[in-house]
Amino acid sequence: MLDLLVNGGTGDQVVAGARMQPEGVDAPFRVVDYDDVEGMVKAFDGVQRVVFIPSFADTDKRAWQGRNVVAAAERAGASQIIFISIMDTRLDSPMPFARAYGEIESALTNSSVPAVILRTSMYTDNLAEQYPMWLKTGQLVTCAGDGRVSYVSRDDIAASIVAVLQEAVERHGGKTYTLTGPEALGYADVASLINELYGAKIKLVDVEREEFASRLKEIWGVAYGGLEHVARVTPMFQTVFKQGLMSEVTSDVLRLSGRPPESARTWLTRHK
Ligand SMILES: NC(=O)c1ccc[n+]([C@@H]2O[C@H](COP(=O)([O-])OP(=O)(O)OC[C@H]3O[C@@H](n4cnc5c(N)ncnc54)[C@H](OP(=O)(O)O)[C@@H]3O)[C@@H](O)[C@H]2O)c1
Repeated sequence: MLDLLVNGGTGDQVVAGARMQPEGVDAPFRVVDYDDVEGMVKAFDGVQRVVFIPSFADTDKRAWQGRNVVAAAERAGASQIIFISIMDTRLDSPMPFARAYGEIESALTNSSVPAVILRTSMYTDNLAEQYPMWLKTGQLVTCAGDGRVSYVSRDDIAASIVAVLQEAVERHGGKTYTLTGPEALGYADVASLINELYGAKIKLVDVEREEFASRLKEIWGVAYGGLEHVARVTPMFQTVFKQGLMSEVTSDVLRLSGRPPESARTWLTRHK
């Protein structure tokens, strides 16, 4: 995951920022560590626009890192932060990490650096991490009930970020957008879709949250053996899906990027 540090009002020079220089990235590079404010002040020197994608840290650390980024951008004199947030940022939201994003949004509101906030739904790309296991076991076990999710692809999020960068700073400054796919799908729809695309017969098995949590290892098998944080937050996310908190559908990807967001069907077909 990279931050993009952009010089020039319309994104004419892009600098990549991360803790270590990633392989295969041709852009100039600066070290950006969200734990190190002084280092970030140096990294942001001369940078007009900062695209901030949070790390996968726990809620409190993620919020602290976000405040660090805002403080460093302010001290370095950046003219805009483009913050990749999440759909529900209420401080009391049951959504994992929501409070961190809410606190970072507040820090942005209270800072002198104008922000563009891009709140995102769940990534369509997440499905790719799960459906091989559904195909293998013939079961899609969930605790989300009829809850629907407006999956949006990482590509559409990236296209929206690029579109913001291609406009003058003033165009979207101070605005908040919610990036979603074109429709909200329940797990029954997702199972049908995978069955159709792969000629499979995956059965939907809806269980209570506690059972889902205790069966995660069995559901996911060795493929998820090391991802304890994913196992911890997935039942929480599925509860949020059940409550409809990730089901909002907007036209903001189209408004920003000029292209309609791709559906889960299109994305899954493209990645088959
Ligand atoms: N809505 C969704 O469905 C969804 C799905 C997936 C992810 N996300 C969000 O996307 C973001 C990234 O997730 P991911 O799946 O790409 O996670 P990931 O693969 O674990 O990547 C996390 C990135 O954060 C970097 N990082 C960690 N600590 C850092 C620090 N102190 N300073 C600077 N960079 C640091 C890591 O860099 P190193 O390589 O140096 O460790 C890594 O590149 C998270 O905010 C996550 O919540 C959302």
